[in-house]
Amino acid sequence: MAEIEALLKEERIFYPPQEGKDQAYINSRYQYDQIYDYSLRDPDGFWSERAKELITWFKYWDRTCYWDFHKPEIRFFEGGKLNASYNCLDRHLFNPDVKNKAAIIWQGEPDQDVRVYTYQMLHDEVCRFANILKFLGVKKGDRVAIYMPMMPEAVAAMLACARIGAIHSVVFGGFSAEALKSRILDAGAKLLITADGTYRGGRRINLLHNAETAIADCECVEKYLVINRFGDALTLSDERGILFDDLIKNKDFAKYCPYEEMDAEDILFILYTSGSTGKPKGIFHTTGGYLVYTAHTTQWVFDVRPEDIFWCTADIGWITGHSYIVYGPLALGATVFMYEGVPTYPDPGRWWELVDRYKVTIFYTAPTVIRALMREGEEWPAKYDLSTLRVLGTVGEPINPEAWIWYHKNVGKGRIPIVDTWWQTETGGHLISPLPYAIPQKPGSATLPLPGIEAVILRADGTPADVNEGGHLCIKRAWPGMARGVWGDPERFKEIYFSRFPGYYLTGDGARVDEDGYFWIMGRLDDVINVSGHRIGTMELESAFVAHAAVAEAAVVGMPHDIKGEAIYAYIVLKEGFEPSEDLKKKLVQHIRKEIGPVATPDVIQFVSGLPKTRSGKIMRRILRKVAAGVYDDLGDTSTLADPSVVEEIIQGRKEIF
Ligand code: PRX
Repeated sequence: MAEIEALLKEERIFYPPQEGKDQAYINSRYQYDQIYDYSLRDPDGFWSERAKELITWFKYWDRTCYWDFHKPEIRFFEGGKLNASYNCLDRHLFNPDVKNKAAIIWQGEPDQDVRVYTYQMLHDEVCRFANILKFLGVKKGDRVAIYMPMMPEAVAAMLACARIGAIHSVVFGGFSAEALKSRILDAGAKLLITADGTYRGGRRINLLHNAETAIADCECVEKYLVINRFGDALTLSDERGILFDDLIKNKDFAKYCPYEEMDAEDILFILYTSGSTGKPKGIFHTTGGYLVYTAHTTQWVFDVRPEDIFWCTADIGWITGHSYIVYGPLALGATVFMYEGVPTYPDPGRWWELVDRYKVTIFYTAPTVIRALMREGEEWPAKYDLSTLRVLGTVGEPINPEAWIWYHKNVGKGRIPIVDTWWQTETGGHLISPLPYAIPQKPGSATLPLPGIEAVILRADGTPADVNEGGHLCIKRAWPGMARGVWGDPERFKEIYFSRFPGYYLTGDGARVDEDGYFWIMGRLDDVINVSGHRIGTMELESAFVAHAAVAEAAVVGMPHDIKGEAIYAYIVLKEGFEPSEDLKKKLVQHIRKEIGPVATPDVIQFVSGLPKTRSGKIMRRILRKVAAGVYDDLGDTSTLADPSVVEEIIQGRKEIF
């Protein structure tokens, strides 16, 4: 509540800096307005110019944009031919200024682990990888699951798939074997690419065990390929396993591999994300539109120039890693800095020390990281020279003005812009964000829709909301980077995003627009919790809870949390014969970590004798959310509850926990 009040009161404005303006792609509000108007007036003209300027096509398209949100059908650059790997690699080799510059500078968590790949080197590595994929029987259209830590091979694996037209499905390393298994099965992946593990906070995290457990029940997986991160001798438990190092020792794989000419609307990748229904959905993106859109937003939103060192701290397993570590920056021929470890190890100055050491110029992270580092004190960023930075970014959740100001002052030294980028797995790239040298920033606001994006706020009845009135954030027209579907389930795509307000894409977020046209995102309106910028479906958690032998019923809600934004709060009704205990709580936490993964670790488990339900049996989540937040008086109308006394019990139980 205090947070929302702070947002409502926020009135500070920060103007783009003069320094850097002259070279910027878009450098005034006037220029933005002109481009924005043009993009809506003539989307064909606007998108075809961007597509020709940013991407190399083997053949131009016959039709630039086509969409019908009623069906839904979305197609961009139809009939066009291109290859994403060619665009991220080969074409740069013709440019003497890019060929030998660093594509990826990788720093492992142990200080001595550093690797630099020039564009030429990355090209060769990707080609070799693509030849390995072919050798293992992977063909155009096959699905390849990637379960990898933050290491350059993860990028090479993705681009190798793109090169031969295979569809990658990257699964975040923080997901459990169970979660990996369900994603592999849903996509019908033929190959799994994984590694033995990764370093995190000074510890070794094992991935191979999860990978091998996952594939034990996956008949579709013909082989799994294991990259060696730790350098120890490895034994694989399943005969389908192949060690990458053995493979290249015994056979010479050429450093050149021809690229497939892909149709613009051929699928580039699948990425699973959570929604309000139990099962995560495989969002898929297509080659032409996605590549144009990520290159376009990387260029304008971060104002990337040839000499920049761009650090996006996201994991490759999320859409942010796909779009702003891999496809966007590499398509532009930029230098990407990639780091394996966490921000607080060996101390809370680690990331600032890396900015200093590698002379990072653009830094893109999540509000939860800023809040965590803020708690550690101003002295950490103050220790290092951060003067190379010129653009800062945030993503993943609303940023509270206090964290925005801290970031601006302590990291940006009060002199550089912050781009608060609002977008989603489904949108492929940024939709609402400041352009750093053009749009004045208000802390906590993602500011204005990017060119080509028509964002509106609708009331529950579908009419447009007034200025400052909260409502459903919807998008009225298609853009090249938008998802084309849910893998294997076209009906679900329609149902989730296009049915509630016909003719609009429903984002699932609440927002308001202020008197200056600035957007203020208020968080999810559906049953999705945003924990440290990670999207977790409450239904997914609930079905995992009830899969445990002791649990009869479960209701999960988000609870405000200082660092994480939201924490996971679970109300649990036990089956007959099970008694509440601290030990059982621990077991349930372990159970969730096993079913979904450490990302979904519940913060609070409260045992209750029943859940507040209406007489028709619907759980009143509104009440559960308020109680979880420690708000006991303003519970609204409880007279429709089948048994109003459970509310009192729930409040008492909450008080005992805190
Ligand atoms: O609720 C919004 C929040 O993150 C959701 C999308 O999550 P995901 O698909 O995992 O993608 C995260 C990275 C793009 C959105 O529906 N969100 C993302 N960025 C912001 C945000 N909320 C407020 N401000 C943002 N800048």
